[in-house]
Amino acid sequence: MKAVIMTRPGGPEVLEVVEGPDPVPGPGHVLVEVAVAGVNFMDVGVRQGMFWREMPDPKVLGVEGAGRVLAVGDGVSDFHLDQRVAWVYSPGSYAQKAVVEAASLVHVPDEIDDRTAASVMMQGLTASHFATDFYPVQAGDIALVHAAAGGVGLLLTQIIKLRGGSVIGRVSSAEKVAIAKQAGADHVIVETEGRFAEEAIRLSGGEGAHVVYDGSGPKTFQGSLDSLRISGTLCWYGAVLGGPGPLDIMKFPKSVKIGYPTFFHHVRTPELLRTHSAQLFDWIRKGKLKVWIAEEYPLANAAKAHADMESRATAGKLLLRPCKESR
Ligand SMILES: NC(=O)c1ccc[n+]([C@@H]2O[C@H](COP(=O)([O-])OP(=O)(O)OC[C@H]3O[C@@H](n4cnc5c(N)ncnc54)[C@H](OP(=O)(O)O)[C@@H]3O)[C@@H](O)[C@H]2O)c1
Repeated sequence: MKAVIMTRPGGPEVLEVVEGPDPVPGPGHVLVEVAVAGVNFMDVGVRQGMFWREMPDPKVLGVEGAGRVLAVGDGVSDFHLDQRVAWVYSPGSYAQKAVVEAASLVHVPDEIDDRTAASVMMQGLTASHFATDFYPVQAGDIALVHAAAGGVGLLLTQIIKLRGGSVIGRVSSAEKVAIAKQAGADHVIVETEGRFAEEAIRLSGGEGAHVVYDGSGPKTFQGSLDSLRISGTLCWYGAVLGGPGPLDIMKFPKSVKIGYPTFFHHVRTPELLRTHSAQLFDWIRKGKLKVWIAEEYPLANAAKAHADMESRATAGKLLLRPCKESR
Protein backbone atom coordinates (compact mmCIF):
# COMPACT_ATOMS: atom_id res chain seq x y z
CA MET A 1 0.00 0.00 0.00
CA LYS A 2 1.02 3.62 -0.52
CA ALA A 3 1.67 6.08 2.32
CA VAL A 4 3.02 9.62 2.74
CA ILE A 5 6.07 9.70 4.98
CA MET A 6 8.41 12.39 6.22
CA THR A 7 12.05 11.42 6.42
CA ARG A 8 13.16 14.53 8.34
CA PRO A 9 11.58 17.76 9.62
CA GLY A 10 11.30 20.54 7.04
CA GLY A 11 9.15 22.14 4.36
CA PRO A 12 6.55 20.38 2.20
CA GLU A 13 9.41 18.87 0.14
CA VAL A 14 10.22 16.38 2.94
CA LEU A 15 6.96 14.55 2.24
CA GLU A 16 7.22 11.58 -0.10
CA VAL A 17 4.98 8.72 -1.17
CA VAL A 18 6.36 5.24 -0.55
CA GLU A 19 5.07 1.72 -1.16
CA GLY A 20 5.08 -0.63 1.84
CA PRO A 21 3.44 -3.74 3.28
CA ASP A 22 -0.11 -3.56 4.66
CA PRO A 23 -0.14 -2.88 8.42
CA VAL A 24 -1.60 -5.61 10.67
CA PRO A 25 -4.04 -4.71 13.46
CA GLY A 26 -2.95 -5.83 16.93
CA PRO A 27 -5.28 -6.38 19.90
CA GLY A 28 -7.79 -3.53 20.33
CA HIS A 29 -7.00 -2.16 16.85
CA VAL A 30 -8.75 -2.10 13.47
CA LEU A 31 -7.31 -2.07 9.93
CA VAL A 32 -9.14 0.52 7.82
CA GLU A 33 -9.15 1.38 4.15
CA VAL A 34 -8.65 5.13 4.03
CA ALA A 35 -11.13 6.59 1.53
CA VAL A 36 -10.42 10.16 2.66
CA ALA A 37 -7.70 11.57 4.93
CA GLY A 38 -8.07 15.04 6.43
CA VAL A 39 -5.28 17.60 6.25
CA ASN A 40 -4.95 19.65 9.44
CA PHE A 41 -2.72 22.52 10.43
CA MET A 42 -1.25 20.29 13.13
CA ASP A 43 0.13 18.06 10.32
CA VAL A 44 2.20 21.08 9.27
CA GLY A 45 3.50 21.24 12.86
CA VAL A 46 4.41 17.54 12.76
CA ARG A 47 6.19 18.03 9.43
CA GLN A 48 8.12 21.00 10.85
CA GLY A 49 9.30 18.85 13.79
CA MET A 50 7.17 20.61 16.42
CA PHE A 51 5.13 17.52 17.43
CA TRP A 52 5.74 13.75 17.48
CA ARG A 53 9.45 14.30 18.05
CA GLU A 54 9.51 11.10 20.11
CA MET A 55 8.43 9.14 17.01
CA PRO A 56 11.41 8.17 14.83
CA ASP A 57 11.58 9.15 11.14
CA PRO A 58 10.47 8.02 8.69
CA LYS A 59 6.89 8.34 9.92
CA VAL A 60 3.52 8.44 8.19
CA LEU A 61 1.67 11.74 8.63
CA GLY A 62 -2.02 12.43 9.17
CA VAL A 63 -4.38 12.02 12.11
CA GLU A 64 -7.91 11.68 10.75
CA GLY A 65 -9.92 10.09 8.01
CA ALA A 66 -12.93 8.08 6.96
CA GLY A 67 -13.29 4.77 5.16
CA ARG A 68 -14.25 1.19 5.93
CA VAL A 69 -13.11 -1.65 8.15
CA LEU A 70 -10.85 -4.23 6.47
CA ALA A 71 -9.93 -6.35 9.53
CA VAL A 72 -10.29 -6.25 13.30
CA GLY A 73 -7.75 -7.27 15.94
CA ASP A 74 -8.39 -9.40 19.02
CA GLY A 75 -10.75 -7.96 21.58
CA VAL A 76 -12.56 -5.58 19.21
CA SER A 77 -16.31 -6.10 19.45
CA ASP A 78 -17.79 -2.72 18.39
CA PHE A 79 -16.62 -2.86 14.77
CA HIS A 80 -16.92 -5.41 12.01
CA LEU A 81 -15.78 -6.02 8.44
CA ASP A 82 -16.90 -3.49 5.81
CA GLN A 83 -18.44 -1.10 8.32
CA ARG A 84 -18.10 2.60 7.50
CA VAL A 85 -16.01 4.44 10.09
CA ALA A 86 -14.23 7.72 10.78
CA TRP A 87 -11.39 8.40 13.21
CA VAL A 88 -9.34 11.12 14.77
CA TYR A 89 -5.97 11.48 16.37
CA SER A 90 -4.67 8.30 14.85
CA PRO A 91 -1.13 8.83 13.52
CA GLY A 92 -0.56 7.36 10.05
CA SER A 93 -3.75 8.42 8.25
CA TYR A 94 -2.03 9.75 5.07
CA ALA A 95 -2.08 6.20 3.65
CA GLN A 96 -4.24 3.78 1.69
CA LYS A 97 -4.58 1.60 4.79
CA ALA A 98 -4.07 2.42 8.44
CA VAL A 99 -4.27 0.70 11.80
CA VAL A 100 -6.51 2.68 14.17
CA GLU A 101 -7.14 2.02 17.84
CA ALA A 102 -10.82 1.01 18.21
CA ALA A 103 -11.15 3.72 20.89
CA SER A 104 -10.41 6.38 18.22
CA LEU A 105 -13.09 5.14 15.79
CA VAL A 106 -16.73 6.12 15.33
CA HIS A 107 -19.45 4.67 13.13
CA VAL A 108 -20.49 6.90 10.24
CA PRO A 109 -24.27 7.21 9.65
CA ASP A 110 -25.52 6.25 6.17
CA GLU A 111 -26.53 9.82 5.32
CA ILE A 112 -23.01 11.20 5.88
CA ASP A 113 -20.48 10.68 3.08
CA ASP A 114 -16.81 9.95 3.71
CA ARG A 115 -15.58 13.42 2.77
CA THR A 116 -17.96 15.09 5.18
CA ALA A 117 -17.20 12.65 8.00
CA ALA A 118 -13.44 13.06 7.61
CA SER A 119 -13.81 16.85 7.48
CA VAL A 120 -15.36 17.23 10.92
CA MET A 121 -13.33 14.87 13.04
CA MET A 122 -10.46 17.16 14.13
CA GLN A 123 -11.71 20.60 13.12
CA GLY A 124 -15.40 19.96 13.96
CA LEU A 125 -14.72 18.42 17.35
CA THR A 126 -12.31 21.27 18.09
CA ALA A 127 -14.84 23.92 17.06
CA SER A 128 -17.58 22.30 19.14
CA HIS A 129 -15.24 22.16 22.14
CA PHE A 130 -14.44 25.85 21.84
CA ALA A 131 -18.03 27.08 21.50
CA THR A 132 -19.90 24.67 23.77
CA ASP A 133 -17.40 23.76 26.46
CA PHE A 134 -14.42 26.10 26.77
CA TYR A 135 -16.62 29.17 26.36
CA PRO A 136 -20.28 28.09 26.10
CA VAL A 137 -21.62 30.76 23.75
CA GLN A 138 -24.94 32.24 24.93
CA ALA A 139 -27.63 33.87 22.80
CA GLY A 140 -26.61 37.48 22.18
CA ASP A 141 -22.87 36.91 22.66
CA ILE A 142 -20.50 38.52 20.18
CA ALA A 143 -17.54 36.38 19.10
CA LEU A 144 -14.46 37.39 17.11
CA VAL A 145 -13.28 34.40 15.04
CA HIS A 146 -9.84 34.49 13.43
CA ALA A 147 -9.11 32.66 10.15
CA ALA A 148 -12.89 32.60 9.77
CA ALA A 149 -12.73 30.95 6.33
CA GLY A 150 -10.40 28.16 7.52
CA GLY A 151 -11.33 24.62 8.49
CA VAL A 152 -11.91 25.34 12.19
CA GLY A 153 -13.15 28.88 11.48
CA LEU A 154 -16.07 27.95 9.20
CA LEU A 155 -17.33 25.25 11.57
CA LEU A 156 -16.84 27.43 14.64
CA THR A 157 -18.77 30.29 13.05
CA GLN A 158 -21.72 28.00 12.31
CA ILE A 159 -21.76 26.51 15.83
CA ILE A 160 -21.67 29.99 17.41
CA LYS A 161 -24.60 31.00 15.22
CA LEU A 162 -26.49 27.79 16.13
CA ARG A 163 -26.16 28.86 19.76
CA GLY A 164 -27.55 32.34 19.07
CA GLY A 165 -24.28 34.26 19.06
CA SER A 166 -23.11 36.71 16.43
CA VAL A 167 -19.75 36.51 14.67
CA ILE A 168 -17.15 39.02 13.58
CA GLY A 169 -14.78 37.06 11.35
CA ARG A 170 -11.18 38.03 10.58
CA VAL A 171 -9.60 36.76 7.35
CA SER A 172 -6.45 37.59 5.42
CA SER A 173 -7.90 38.40 2.00
CA ALA A 174 -11.00 39.83 0.35
CA GLU A 175 -11.54 36.52 -1.52
CA LYS A 176 -12.40 34.84 1.80
CA VAL A 177 -15.12 37.29 2.85
CA ALA A 178 -17.96 35.69 0.89
CA ILE A 179 -17.38 32.18 2.26
CA ALA A 180 -17.08 33.44 5.86
CA LYS A 181 -20.42 35.24 5.35
CA GLN A 182 -22.00 32.13 3.84
CA ALA A 183 -21.09 30.29 7.05
CA GLY A 184 -22.96 32.97 8.99
CA ALA A 185 -20.40 35.64 9.91
CA ASP A 186 -22.27 38.90 10.54
CA HIS A 187 -19.20 41.03 9.77
CA VAL A 188 -15.83 40.17 8.27
CA ILE A 189 -12.61 42.12 8.81
CA VAL A 190 -9.84 41.67 6.22
CA GLU A 191 -6.53 42.14 8.05
CA THR A 192 -3.09 40.52 8.40
CA GLU A 193 -1.00 42.88 10.54
CA GLY A 194 -2.70 42.46 13.92
CA ARG A 195 -4.47 45.86 13.74
CA PHE A 196 -8.11 44.76 13.84
CA ALA A 197 -9.08 45.61 17.46
CA GLU A 198 -10.46 49.08 16.76
CA GLU A 199 -12.77 47.69 14.07
CA ALA A 200 -13.80 44.73 16.26
CA ILE A 201 -14.69 47.12 19.10
CA ARG A 202 -16.66 49.34 16.69
CA LEU A 203 -18.55 46.34 15.24
CA SER A 204 -19.42 45.15 18.74
CA GLY A 205 -21.11 48.43 19.61
CA GLY A 206 -18.10 49.93 21.38
CA GLU A 207 -17.99 47.30 24.14
CA GLY A 208 -15.79 44.61 22.58
CA ALA A 209 -16.38 40.89 22.03
CA HIS A 210 -17.52 38.48 24.72
CA VAL A 211 -15.09 35.91 23.34
CA VAL A 212 -12.23 35.87 20.85
CA TYR A 213 -11.19 32.60 19.19
CA ASP A 214 -7.61 33.07 18.04
CA GLY A 215 -5.55 30.31 16.37
CA SER A 216 -3.49 32.75 14.32
CA GLY A 217 -0.18 32.95 16.15
CA PRO A 218 1.70 35.73 17.97
CA LYS A 219 0.84 38.57 15.56
CA THR A 220 -2.85 38.62 16.54
CA PHE A 221 -2.48 38.02 20.29
CA GLN A 222 -2.42 41.63 21.55
CA GLY A 223 -5.15 42.69 19.13
CA SER A 224 -7.29 39.82 20.36
CA LEU A 225 -6.87 40.93 23.99
CA ASP A 226 -7.70 44.49 22.99
CA SER A 227 -10.85 43.33 21.18
CA LEU A 228 -12.43 41.88 24.36
CA ARG A 229 -14.98 43.54 26.59
CA ILE A 230 -14.68 43.59 30.39
CA SER A 231 -14.45 39.97 31.66
CA GLY A 232 -14.22 38.70 28.09
CA THR A 233 -12.61 35.37 27.25
CA LEU A 234 -9.69 34.74 24.92
CA CYS A 235 -9.65 31.21 23.55
CA TRP A 236 -6.12 30.91 22.22
CA TYR A 237 -5.26 27.80 20.23
CA GLY A 238 -2.65 28.46 17.55
CA ALA A 239 0.24 26.32 18.75
CA VAL A 240 1.70 25.66 15.27
CA LEU A 241 1.93 29.35 14.37
CA GLY A 242 3.62 30.11 17.70
CA GLY A 243 2.74 31.40 21.16
CA PRO A 244 2.72 34.97 22.48
CA GLY A 245 5.81 34.42 24.68
CA PRO A 246 5.97 35.18 28.42
CA LEU A 247 2.94 37.10 29.68
CA ASP A 248 2.64 39.56 32.57
CA ILE A 249 -0.73 38.88 34.24
CA MET A 250 -0.68 42.40 35.71
CA LYS A 251 -0.95 43.77 32.19
CA PHE A 252 -4.05 41.80 31.19
CA PRO A 253 -6.72 44.41 30.46
CA LYS A 254 -10.34 44.44 31.60
CA SER A 255 -10.29 41.35 33.91
CA VAL A 256 -10.12 39.09 30.88
CA LYS A 257 -9.75 35.31 31.02
CA ILE A 258 -7.26 33.53 28.76
CA GLY A 259 -6.97 29.81 28.08
CA TYR A 260 -5.40 27.32 25.69
CA PRO A 261 -7.99 24.56 25.15
CA THR A 262 -6.93 21.42 23.38
CA PHE A 263 -8.85 18.81 21.52
CA PHE A 264 -7.81 16.03 23.95
CA HIS A 265 -9.57 17.61 26.89
CA HIS A 266 -12.89 17.54 25.05
CA VAL A 267 -12.63 14.05 23.60
CA ARG A 268 -10.56 12.38 26.29
CA THR A 269 -12.61 9.15 26.35
CA PRO A 270 -14.18 6.99 23.58
CA GLU A 271 -17.62 7.87 25.01
CA LEU A 272 -16.95 11.60 24.64
CA LEU A 273 -15.62 11.05 21.12
CA ARG A 274 -18.80 9.19 20.16
CA THR A 275 -21.15 11.66 21.83
CA HIS A 276 -19.57 14.77 20.32
CA SER A 277 -19.11 13.31 16.83
CA ALA A 278 -22.74 12.08 16.92
CA GLN A 279 -23.81 15.67 17.68
CA LEU A 280 -21.83 16.94 14.66
CA PHE A 281 -23.30 14.23 12.39
CA ASP A 282 -26.79 15.09 13.66
CA TRP A 283 -26.33 18.80 12.89
CA ILE A 284 -25.10 17.87 9.40
CA ARG A 285 -28.05 15.51 8.82
CA LYS A 286 -30.48 18.24 9.84
CA GLY A 287 -28.79 20.78 7.55
CA LYS A 288 -27.62 22.91 10.49
CA LEU A 289 -23.89 22.40 9.89
CA LYS A 290 -22.21 22.51 6.50
CA VAL A 291 -18.74 21.45 5.44
CA TRP A 292 -16.84 23.44 2.81
CA ILE A 293 -14.24 21.41 0.93
CA ALA A 294 -11.39 23.64 -0.24
CA GLU A 295 -9.69 21.01 -2.37
CA GLU A 296 -9.14 17.27 -2.71
CA TYR A 297 -5.69 15.95 -3.62
CA PRO A 298 -4.39 12.52 -4.59
CA LEU A 299 -2.02 11.06 -1.99
CA ALA A 300 0.94 11.90 -4.24
CA ASN A 301 0.11 15.63 -3.88
CA ALA A 302 0.24 15.79 -0.06
CA ALA A 303 3.16 18.24 -0.27
CA LYS A 304 1.05 20.56 -2.43
CA ALA A 305 -1.80 20.32 0.10
CA HIS A 306 0.58 21.45 2.86
CA ALA A 307 1.99 24.27 0.75
CA ASP A 308 -1.53 25.43 -0.11
CA MET A 309 -2.63 25.41 3.54
CA GLU A 310 0.40 27.46 4.55
CA SER A 311 -0.11 29.89 1.64
CA ARG A 312 -3.22 31.31 3.35
CA ALA A 313 -5.07 31.01 0.04
CA THR A 314 -7.38 28.11 0.98
CA ALA A 315 -10.89 28.35 2.39
CA GLY A 316 -12.45 25.26 3.99
CA LYS A 317 -11.24 21.72 4.41
CA LEU A 318 -8.31 20.14 2.55
CA LEU A 319 -8.57 16.41 1.90
CA LEU A 320 -6.36 13.64 0.53
CA ARG A 321 -7.95 10.81 -1.46
CA PRO A 322 -5.77 7.69 -0.99
CA CYS A 323 -8.46 5.20 -2.11
CA LYS A 324 -11.79 5.32 -3.85
CA GLU A 325 -14.53 6.66 -1.60
CA SER A 326 -16.58 3.86 -0.03
CA ARG A 327 -19.54 6.24 -0.10
N1 LIG B 1 -5.95 23.53 20.16
C1 LIG B 1 -6.48 22.59 19.41
O1 LIG B 1 -6.96 21.58 19.93
C2 LIG B 1 -6.51 22.73 17.91
C3 LIG B 1 -7.15 21.76 17.13
C4 LIG B 1 -7.23 21.95 15.74
C5 LIG B 1 -6.64 23.08 15.16
N2 LIG B 1 -5.97 23.97 15.96
C6 LIG B 1 -5.37 25.18 15.38
O2 LIG B 1 -6.40 25.86 14.69
C7 LIG B 1 -5.85 26.65 13.66
C8 LIG B 1 -6.63 26.35 12.38
O3 LIG B 1 -6.35 25.03 12.00
P1 LIG B 1 -7.04 24.34 10.77
O4 LIG B 1 -6.54 22.94 10.72
O5 LIG B 1 -8.51 24.58 10.82
O6 LIG B 1 -6.44 25.10 9.53
P2 LIG B 1 -7.16 26.14 8.56
O7 LIG B 1 -7.94 27.12 9.36
O8 LIG B 1 -7.89 25.41 7.52
O9 LIG B 1 -5.94 26.88 7.92
C9 LIG B 1 -5.17 27.69 8.72
C10 LIG B 1 -5.60 29.16 8.63
O10 LIG B 1 -4.64 29.90 9.35
C11 LIG B 1 -4.29 31.07 8.64
N3 LIG B 1 -2.85 30.97 8.36
C12 LIG B 1 -2.18 30.08 7.60
N4 LIG B 1 -0.88 30.33 7.61
C13 LIG B 1 -0.72 31.41 8.38
C14 LIG B 1 0.41 32.13 8.78
N5 LIG B 1 1.65 31.82 8.36
N6 LIG B 1 0.22 33.16 9.62
C15 LIG B 1 -1.00 33.49 10.05
N7 LIG B 1 -2.12 32.81 9.70
C16 LIG B 1 -1.97 31.81 8.88
C17 LIG B 1 -5.12 31.12 7.38
O11 LIG B 1 -6.24 31.99 7.60
P3 LIG B 1 -6.15 33.56 7.21
O12 LIG B 1 -5.15 33.63 6.09
O13 LIG B 1 -7.51 33.95 6.76
O14 LIG B 1 -5.70 34.27 8.45
C18 LIG B 1 -5.61 29.68 7.20
O15 LIG B 1 -6.89 29.63 6.67
C19 LIG B 1 -4.37 26.28 13.60
O16 LIG B 1 -3.66 27.26 14.32
C20 LIG B 1 -4.31 24.95 14.32
O17 LIG B 1 -3.04 24.70 14.88
C21 LIG B 1 -5.91 23.82 17.31
